[in-house]
Formats: sequence, C-alpha cells, structure tokens
Amino acid sequence: MDALQYVEKNYDNFVNTLKELLKIPSVSAQSKYKEDVKSCARFLAGQLEGIGLSPKIIETPGHPIVYCQYEDDPHAPTALIYGHYDVQPVDPLNLWKSPPFEPLIDNDIIYARGAADDKGQLLIHLKAVESFMKTQGQVPINFKMVLEGEEEVQSVNLDDFLEKNREMLKSDFAIISDTAMFGPDMPALTYSLRGIAIAEIEVTGPNRDLHSGSYGGAVPNPIHALAQIISACHDEDYRITIPGFYDDVLDIEEWERKAFKDLPFDENKFLKEVGSQGLVGEKGYSSLERRSARPTFEVNGIYGGYDGEGSKTIIPSWAGAKITMRLVPNQDPFKICDLLEKYLHSIKPEGITLRVKTGGGAKPALISKDNPIMQAAAQALKEGFGKDPYFIREGGSIPIVNIFKEVLGIDTILLGFCQPDCNAHSPNEWLALNDFKRGIISTINLYKKLAEMRM
Ligand code: BES
Ligand code: MN
Ligand code: MN
Repeated sequence: MDALQYVEKNYDNFVNTLKELLKIPSVSAQSKYKEDVKSCARFLAGQLEGIGLSPKIIETPGHPIVYCQYEDDPHAPTALIYGHYDVQPVDPLNLWKSPPFEPLIDNDIIYARGAADDKGQLLIHLKAVESFMKTQGQVPINFKMVLEGEEEVQSVNLDDFLEKNREMLKSDFAIISDTAMFGPDMPALTYSLRGIAIAEIEVTGPNRDLHSGSYGGAVPNPIHALAQIISACHDEDYRITIPGFYDDVLDIEEWERKAFKDLPFDENKFLKEVGSQGLVGEKGYSSLERRSARPTFEVNGIYGGYDGEGSKTIIPSWAGAKITMRLVPNQDPFKICDLLEKYLHSIKPEGITLRVKTGGGAKPALISKDNPIMQAAAQALKEGFGKDPYFIREGGSIPIVNIFKEVLGIDTILLGFCQPDCNAHSPNEWLALNDFKRGIISTINLYKKLAEMRM
C-alpha cells in the first residue's frame, strides 16, 4: 500500500481524529482555557508519537510549542512545517448553530471552532506524514514541525524560540496551511500576506462625567473629539490621510492588476456574502485589490460614555478606540505607528488630552511566484484537485512568515484548504471534509515533489 491508498483506507479514522482535536477548547486568549491549551499540545504530541516520531512539548512563558523533527536523507530538502493549534474565542455563543467544541458533520462539512483556523489544516500535515510513515516507514523529505499555541495572540513567544534555536530549526523553506482557497474547487497558493500595525487612542476631557445640561455647549466632549479624529483618517477617496503612510507601499504592478482582473471574482456575490448595503474603498482599486494588496485603517472597537439602559445625560470624561491598520509590502508596523501618533497629535481638537498607545504588529510578506517550491506546490495542488491553483494575495496576517524570513532566512509556501467564507474567528466556523481530504492528498504529492529537488 502506498501513502495515497492509505488515505483512502483510513479516511474515516482521519475524520475521527479531527473531531477529537476539535473537541479540545484551546482558546489562547482566555486564561480559563490554559489547561485545555496544554492538553491540546499533549494530544498533538500523542498523535506524532503514534506515527512513530519523537515530539517534544516545549514550555514558553505562555502556551507550549509542540516540536517534532524528522531527518532521514541528508540530500532531501528540509521543510519547516508550521501550524497553530490555538483558536479564537467563541463568543457570541448564541449565534452558533451547534456548540463550538462539539464538532458536527452536516452535508460533508464539519462545524467547530478551529475547523478551518487552524486545527483542521495543521492535521492535514500530520496525516500526510502518517500516510508515509505507516506505508513506507519513512517520509521522503526532512522536516522540523512547529505547532504553536499562541498564533491568535500574536505569537508573543515564538520569536524568542526561533532566535534561540536557529541552528536546530535550520530549513530550506517553510510550509504553512493556514490560508483559504479562492473558492469551492478553486485551490490556491497565497504569495502575499498583509502585515498589521496595532494602536489604541485614548481621549480625555473633563475630570469627571458632567451633567450635559449644566455644562453642555461649553465643555469639549471626548467622544465628539474621538469621532472627529477617526473621521480625519480617511479622505473622500477613502485614502488614508496619515502623512507618509503610503511612502513605502509597493504599487501593484501592471501584470498583477491584470491578474487581479482575471480572477473569477463576483462583486455581487461578495456583497451578498458580507450582507452590507454597499461596498467602500480606496478610489481606483477593485474590492479584491483593496482587500489584499492595499493598506487599510480600521477601527475595531470604540468605548466611552453611557451605553446602558435608557438615557443618561452626561458629557463623558473619556473615550477610546482600538485601531488596526493592515499593511502591504514594504510598510513597517513600527514606522506606521509612529506616523499615526504624530498625525493624530497634529489634528487633535482643542481642549482634550490625547494618548496614542501603539502595540507593534507584524510585517507583511511577499513570496515570488517563480520560487521553485511554489511551482512544486502548484503541481501538487493540480494533482490533488484536478485543477490549476490560483495565485492570490491574502488580506489577513500570519506574523511568523516574516519572522521566518528575517530570523531563519527562509521563504514560506502558503497552501491553504479552507474556503474564504469559512467563518474563521466567527460563529459556525467550518471546513469542507472533501477539502480536508484533497488537502492531505495534495500535501502527500507536495512532499513527493519536494523530495525530487535534491539539496
Ligand atoms: N489564519 C489566520 C490568517 C488568515 C486570515 C489567513 C484570513 C487567511 C484569511 C490567522 O490565524 C489570523 O487570524 N491572523 C491574525 C493575526 C493577528 C492576530 C496579528 C489576523 O490576521 O488578524
Ligand atoms: Mn490561522
Ligand atoms: Mn486566526
């Protein structure tokens, strides 16, 4: 029996393992799940042991890393296989059609938190490795597998792990399955990710909440000031007004604009999917370009004043907003945070105090389509799905991709198997089991092709 036949034969077991993995509530952001995150690490280590490998659970100041190394043929390439086993919080819980940690299969789709992001996808690699080990007693490539428990909290301890273990982690390239396909039956390779810069704005006015009748009209209202500041961050063309913001932006090249146009993207279907009344964005760019190849400024949350039952007539003492800016090559999150801070202070209305807290972020990533590993991955997807993959840019961020480049000097191949509307970070997250299966088959094909590239 070969690896691909093993997949056919053991597919039901694979789905059972997926279910078991999805039952563990490994929410990294919430401390009440700390033990569950740990037991998820142990579960994965157990799986790797079951395959005949020797994983290690590496403790960090936060959640553990599961690390597993496999070296066989010194002339075969070495892949750094990365995935994250932590998941996002589940709220609002009442919008889930089935409980988030009780995986439900309906119509060949599995619903659970983490199904797509990223437990279902990291299991694809474990099962590809298993299929080789159990049939050939070996995997055709060498690998260093890093399964992280803190991706959804910005990989706070992973940098340190990489820096301290450069030698151990030495690889020829990285492979990550934590992105989406272009659509149903549309496999994709992602060649660019956006970065992110994180900030929070705090506005303070009077030294306490004031009666809005006695004081209103004479005292500056921090919420008004905040609204004014936020609306001054875009112009009428939806360009971001922060001076210098676009200085390092790599323009979309002509060939790429054409490639964007050639993608089978249906603006109306997209509008329906998001369920809003219309679309907005930077003048001169399509929705696809705006969502992946152009930078953004978004308010994620706003707070302050009274939002309880009924009305309360006050001028609030303070207000705040949480901001993230998605960045594109070659923008730098620290530089962008500085520019934001300077700009906001320059437009600050009279009579309030402004504080801008900047929270760093992640750099964007861009990988050449001509990279031979990319080409091998394209072939592997073609064999797995019977269709050529689309080359796409992703608007979301995977902070570690740039760090792999900076610390280990390696490029990352991003081949993802969830659907773009898989509800990652939302209620009713899902993964099509057929994509899970074709993902495993494609990954087996990929390892075989990589093995042919002698190093
Ligand atoms: N898997 C996602 C990245 C992603 C998002 C891929 C959308 C494909 C489509 C990853 O787990 C994620 O959510 N990243 C965060 C990073 C942030 C917390 C620094 C993101 O993009 O918001
Ligand atoms: Mn993810
Ligand atoms: Mn995520």
